[in-house]
Amino acid sequence: MTDNSIQTNNPKSTLLLGAINMDLIVETERLARAGETFVCDRLYTSGGGKAGNQAVAAARFADSINDVKMIGRVGDDAFGRELQTFMSDQGVNMNGVTTDPDIETGVAIIFIDPTGENFVHAIYGGNGRCGEVEATRAIDELTNAGVLLVQQEIPLSCSLDAMRAAKRNGVPVVLDPAPAKSPEEVPDGFYQHADILTPNTWEAEALAGMPIDDVPSAEQAANRIRDRLGCQCVIITMAGDGVFVASEDLRGHIPPFEVDAIATVAAGDAFAGVLGQALTEGNDLENAIRLAMAAGALCVSKPGTQSAMPYRNEVLEMAGIQ
Ligand code: RIB
Repeated sequence: MTDNSIQTNNPKSTLLLGAINMDLIVETERLARAGETFVCDRLYTSGGGKAGNQAVAAARFADSINDVKMIGRVGDDAFGRELQTFMSDQGVNMNGVTTDPDIETGVAIIFIDPTGENFVHAIYGGNGRCGEVEATRAIDELTNAGVLLVQQEIPLSCSLDAMRAAKRNGVPVVLDPAPAKSPEEVPDGFYQHADILTPNTWEAEALAGMPIDDVPSAEQAANRIRDRLGCQCVIITMAGDGVFVASEDLRGHIPPFEVDAIATVAAGDAFAGVLGQALTEGNDLENAIRLAMAAGALCVSKPGTQSAMPYRNEVLEMAGIQ
């Protein structure tokens, strides 16, 4: 790394387009079998949605000169209001979020087992109605954006409109290809509009069409994804095994930060949110990845989703970057 000091010299905003859910998180010894009633240990709620989580991660990490802007859709209901309040309290600008009276807010029911593994069942509600309104809002915000962050929980045609405009405006796009989609569900040219793709192991296996068991197979998969999908930079996040990055200027395996994992849910969102924010602030890719990995590690050591996102000082301390 040439300069590992944290950069904060760019007053632009980080722009999020995607899903906001209310997460109902169930801690349980195991999942119930078909026809069985199984008693679980605990239920709690947390704001969620991949874009919602990434927005809170970016906002908690953001330097005060940066704005984090969320574009999405919630229902006119108690969950929608709670999410709007919580996310704005975390510093997310929610002016771009529509309240839709005709549909409910998205919800995800998430089971966490004693190993911290998670099983997410989502009902997208209002997120599924994101379309022209949201794409136009995102496009209007691009002139002042440092990075656009998108995922795969809202209609991909909406995200693609914003990604195309981002390319035209020279705004880098970070695409978290989650949840994984079959090739028929993905519009032509979708992945080519991403500058950085951040699949987890499972998503990378689906995109590359090959298993990933170790660092060499991660490298092979990253190469295949770059060749097949036309993205400049692929970062495969491998949970407790670190990340593999493949780009023109940066290539290799980066080992993880060691933490005790309580719940692995939303770690990829902590990673993507802080990666985007760190790039907006002017950090180089290597620095931004280190900060993002620290955020992912801190996230798995806390319960919740939006509520588990770490703060700037915690991330800087773990990453050892000042
Ligand atoms: O990545 C975790 C998120 O996926 C959860 O917050 C849930 O809402 C689903 O969107």
